[in-house]
Amino acid sequence: MKERLKELTESTVGKIKAAVDAAALNEIRVAILGKKGELTAILKGMKDVPPEEKPEMGRIVNEAREAIETALKTAGDRIKNIELEKRLKEEVIDVTLPGKKNKKGHRHPNRIALEEVEKIFIGMGYEVVHGPEVEYDYYNFEALNIPADHPAKDEQDTFYINDKIVLRTQTSPVQVRVMEKGKIPIRMIAPGRVFRADEVDATHSPCFHQIEGMVIDEGITFADLKGTLEVFAKKLFGENVALKFRPHHFPFTEPSAEVDVTCFKCGGKGCRMCKGEGWIEILGCGMIHPKVLERCNVDTSKYSGFAFGIGLERIALLKYEIDDMRLLYENDVRFLGQF
Ligand code: DAH
Repeated sequence: MKERLKELTESTVGKIKAAVDAAALNEIRVAILGKKGELTAILKGMKDVPPEEKPEMGRIVNEAREAIETALKTAGDRIKNIELEKRLKEEVIDVTLPGKKNKKGHRHPNRIALEEVEKIFIGMGYEVVHGPEVEYDYYNFEALNIPADHPAKDEQDTFYINDKIVLRTQTSPVQVRVMEKGKIPIRMIAPGRVFRADEVDATHSPCFHQIEGMVIDEGITFADLKGTLEVFAKKLFGENVALKFRPHHFPFTEPSAEVDVTCFKCGGKGCRMCKGEGWIEILGCGMIHPKVLERCNVDTSKYSGFAFGIGLERIALLKYEIDDMRLLYENDVRFLGQF
């Protein structure tokens, strides 16, 4: 048995020294020290050794195991070093190679236009608020003085989630939500996405954006509305634009108007941009209807207010002279890269 151990130790240490990688080393470890390994088998045979020989045999077996384990450890370190060196050689980074350029994105033209509008109103003391895109029919229509059988409801045919819930067709419901909070004075704009069951063409999309505006305080008049929108239009399109208020009808304002600005391209002479008219429509507005105020518990003997709704895409198309709204949604970088 002593002989067998000596031979086994010597041959194993020899094999270990010759091993060139971690896998080979592991194979040896399993063959000798594993569950079915040769040294393990010898250890198991210890029970048959006569008692008087056991101490000495025990020592020899232990020495053999230690010798093998030490050899394994030394070889393991050696192989690790070899592998590390190999990797260091293979994974050299050439820091002098030119870098890959990251293309930086930037804001969408809609976003640029919105931020410009927000900046103007924030400068006049307005707060920017947001309302839900999935809205109760009540807020989108009923509370805005558009009862179930009102023709204006047909015009804004929308996507119904169920009888009571719709995708909002306008940002005007945010007016109601803000009024309901009961804090006056109010100076707010509410930008956001709106939805209508429209076919896609150069000027229509089933999903577009509006910016709602509302002011409520003591003694607010149509003159305040005119002054405010004039400051806004001049800041946005240039000091030379003039405004025209055309009488119109919205169920939630009285009186109501649509507002045109003089074409900032031709100065009002008539060109392709304004379709020869000299004027370009930019928004709808009016004095908030008393019925709307009363429904929201605003004391109409004390307070009055105005509201307006701007089409964001319209502003972006005009400012950047884009002639097809679809370009704004197609995510073509050749187009978007121009802003
Ligand atoms: N909500 C209207 C629309 O989508 C736009 C509008 C008009 C909003 C007049 C207003 C307003 O706040 O006073 O056509």
